[in-house]
Amino acid sequence: MKYTVVLPAAGSGKRMKADKNKLLLELFDKPIFIYTLEVFQRDPNCEGIWLAVKEEERSLMEDFVKEYGITKVAGFAVGGAERQDSVRACLKMIPACDVLLVHDAARPFIDAEVILHLAKEAAASGAAIAGVRVKDTIKKAESGFITETVERGKLWIIQTPQAFRYSLIKEAAAAAYEAGFLGTDEAMLVERLGHPVKIVESNYENVKMTTPDDLIYGKAILESRRQEEQQ
Ligand code: CTP
Ligand code: MG
Repeated sequence: MKYTVVLPAAGSGKRMKADKNKLLLELFDKPIFIYTLEVFQRDPNCEGIWLAVKEEERSLMEDFVKEYGITKVAGFAVGGAERQDSVRACLKMIPACDVLLVHDAARPFIDAEVILHLAKEAAASGAAIAGVRVKDTIKKAESGFITETVERGKLWIIQTPQAFRYSLIKEAAAAAYEAGFLGTDEAMLVERLGHPVKIVESNYENVKMTTPDDLIYGKAILESRRQEEQQ
C-alpha cells in the first residue's frame, strides 16, 4: 500500500534539556531525525516525505537530508507553535494522495511492518494508529488518594505513525481548525467527527526520544540491531 508521510520536526525539545532541537542530537554518529528519515527512504511503499521544520533550522536540516542521501523529501513546511500547527502546515502543501501517514520525527525506531499494517488499515477503514498495551497498573488519583483503578485490558499507549485516508485527515484538520480544537494527536481530530479509528499493535521499541533517559534506551536499541545484523 503506497503512502505519503508527514514528519513534524519543528519542536524545540524542551524536555530533552539540550542546547538545541533534540532531533539534531546524535545517536552514535547520526542525528536522530536522520534515522527516522532513513526508514521511509528505504520503504518502497513511501512515495514522498514532507517535513515540518523551524524556519531557522530549515537550511541545516536540508543540508543533513542531502548529506545522508535522502531523496524522497518532497517539501519542507514551516512549522507552528503547536505540533498540530506544524502538521497543518504540511497538509496545506501536500497534493491529493490515497493514504497519508503522520509520524513524529522523534520516533526513529519505527519498523516497516507496522507502517505497512497501518497503511493497509487506513486504506480499508479510513484511520489507523499505532499503539502498545499498557504494562503497568494505572490508577486515577485526586488530592493524593486513589479514586479508581482503570481496567488495564482496555488501555493503550498511543504512538505514531497515525495513518489516514487523505480526504479524511484533510476534513478533520479543517474542522478542528475552524472550531479552534487542539488535539494531542491526529486521531483526536478524526474521533471528534465520529469516525472510527483502528488501533494497530506496534512495539515498545517505537519510543519517542523525549527525555535524556530515552537516549540511553535509543542507543541500546541501535546496538542490539547492529549485533543482530552481524549474526
Ligand atoms: N513538533 C513540531 N512542531 C511543534 C512541536 C513539536 O513539529 N510545534 C514535533 C517535534 O519536533 C517532534 C514531534 O512533533 O518530532 C513530537 O513532539 P515532542 O516529542 O513533544 O517534541 P518537542 O515538542 O520538540 O519536545 P518538548 O515537548 O519536550 O518541547
Ligand atoms: Mg512537544
